[in-house]
Amino acid sequence: MGPLSAPACTLHITWKELLLTASLLIFWNAPTTAQVTIEAQPTKVSEGKDVLLLVHNLPQNLTGYIWYKGQKTDLHLYVTSYVKDTETVIAGPAYSGRETVYSNASLLIQNVTQKDTGSYTIEITKRGDRTEGEIGHFTLYAELPKPYITSNNFNPMENKNVVALTCEPKTQNYTYVWWVNGQSLPVTPRLKQPGENRILILANVTRNDTGSYECEIQDRVGSIRSDPVTLDVLYGPDVPRIIPPFTQYHSGENLYLSCFADSNPPAEYTWTINRKFLQSGQKLSIPHITTKHSGLYGCSARNSATGRERSILTRIKVSPPSVRGRISGLNPI
Ligand SMILES: *[C@@H]1O[C@H](CO)[C@@H](O)[C@H](O)[C@H]1NC(C)=O
Ligand SMILES: *[C@@H]1O[C@H](CO)[C@@H](O)[C@H](O)[C@H]1NC(C)=O
Ligand SMILES: *[C@@H]1O[C@H](CO)[C@@H](O)[C@H](O)[C@H]1NC(C)=O
Ligand SMILES: *[C@@H]1O[C@H](CO)[C@@H](O)[C@H](O)[C@H]1NC(C)=O
Ligand SMILES: *[C@@H]1O[C@H](CO)[C@@H](O)[C@H](O)[C@H]1NC(C)=O
Ligand SMILES: *[C@@H]1O[C@H](CO)[C@@H](O)[C@H](O)[C@H]1NC(C)=O
Repeated sequence: MGPLSAPACTLHITWKELLLTASLLIFWNAPTTAQVTIEAQPTKVSEGKDVLLLVHNLPQNLTGYIWYKGQKTDLHLYVTSYVKDTETVIAGPAYSGRETVYSNASLLIQNVTQKDTGSYTIEITKRGDRTEGEIGHFTLYAELPKPYITSNNFNPMENKNVVALTCEPKTQNYTYVWWVNGQSLPVTPRLKQPGENRILILANVTRNDTGSYECEIQDRVGSIRSDPVTLDVLYGPDVPRIIPPFTQYHSGENLYLSCFADSNPPAEYTWTINRKFLQSGQKLSIPHITTKHSGLYGCSARNSATGRERSILTRIKVSPPSVRGRISGLNPI
């Protein structure tokens, strides 16, 4: 079999097809030599499957091949070799029992594990000048697992809960990216991303954090995004408003009042007069009011999810029918 030493001269580095799912580094020692290329079938491996590293454009007059698991032609990384003349396969220290080298230099790896990903080097030894080996490098990538998001709380309360969104699974050598409502995460001081972005911490969550969250795993050659999850922040009610805001009415008019308070989930409303329960519901309707209807009207908004209740009071004065001159919304005193 051929020498285990590194080639004496390495003239050229070609960085091939960066965007392909497999990256490839080729060193070769004569510009006239056809370039050795390595291709993985399939291009990305998933655990438990087989992968074939196909070697193309082999040089002529070769004596054999040595495959290394790593970037160097180091004896400790020597997996297996093939000696052409004797058609012998030799296993090296890094042989796992799952690698098969073929006479055409291709390497089959069966029942792939996470450890099988990474760099491979093939050394092709040639007849004649023993230092004229050719070296091919290849990086085998694992199929990216589809990520998913877990959270300590998908329905946090505003200004109360801290939300931690975690992108699973935890994997080495991948970059994690977050998307909120289809936009890559805006960088604000509130959004802390410790641990290489895998965990997104929303401290003092607000209603503005409500939205659709996705996480993405990226490696050098690809990316995959999770299904979206919805963060539904519970908040409110805010201080209610009574509409219309008029306080002066005439006998015989209709009193139609509505109460609004921003709240998630929507608030439940109750009306009071002079601090006594009047009715529930968002709208208050009293036709043909009289002076008896003067008083302190209150609207109370309650959110059963947050347990909060906020009220507002308005004093409404109904003047007797003899007073004239109220014209459409103007409230003479
Ligand atoms: C090499 O041999 C393997 C196993 O017989 C085969 O699958 C592959 O297509 C051959 N060709 C190349 C270019 O590796
Ligand atoms: C291969 O070896 C033969 C005989 O040793 C020689 O004649 C031929 O030129 C060599 N071919 C290449 C491409 O080196
Ligand atoms: C693949 O490897 C796993 C664990 O390493 C083993 O349990 C399983 O039997 C292997 N499958 C095959 C088809 O060799
Ligand atoms: C992952 O990263 C570690 C440390 O940065 C490195 O030692 C290892 O070779 C990398 N693994 C792969 C498959 O790239
Ligand atoms: C978050 O809330 C805590 C407790 O209410 C408060 O002490 C802290 O200052 C808040 N942090 C931010 C960034 O608003
Ligand atoms: C939510 O965003 C709006 C618009 O950017 C801002 O006016 C408001 O103060 C924010 N509310 C909270 C609770 O952060």
